Amino acid sequence: MKKSPLHLLLVLVVICTSSVFASEVIEDAMKKYHKAPKGQDPVCKIVANGKASTEQIAELLTAYQAMCKEAPPRGEKADWVKKCQAVIASLKKIQGGDAAGAEEFKKASNCKACHSEHKPE
Ligand code: HEC
Repeated sequence: MKKSPLHLLLVLVVICTSSVFASEVIEDAMKKYHKAPKGQDPVCKIVANGKASTEQIAELLTAYQAMCKEAPPRGEKADWVKKCQAVIASLKKIQGGDAAGAEEFKKASNCKACHSEHKPE
């Protein structure tokens, strides 16, 4: 999918109709927040470094809340929800100005830990 200003709108539409486009929500969130264009830091890295804007943190939080409602393409739904909730909790801490939030976010958003259980081959 091409990146365009419409992309965010599309993500919102997808979130609203999430039961129809189940894994697209997860896929889009991954592409948008975990993978950055060349030469740029992905949003998740900026958040982990404590350099994210209020909007970036809120966007990432919304994305994880949407992912949390999805069924993972692979693995246990209960475990998936737990992993997403951990990220959500850490983001809320960051929003609340809790210094422990960034460290917790780094742990909770561990790419490999989640991919090894929930990302299809
Ligand atoms: C809470 C679980 C979770 C975490 C944490 C996570 N991912 Fe993912 N990721 C997934 C799942 C599930 C998929 C498969 C989505 C699908 O294909 O339906 C995925 C897919 C992807 C994809 C492929 C998207 C595509 O093009 O289809 C990329 C790239 C990616 N993740 C990057 C990352 C990076 C980088 C990190 C760490 C900063 C990360 N992810 C952390 C669950 C996670």
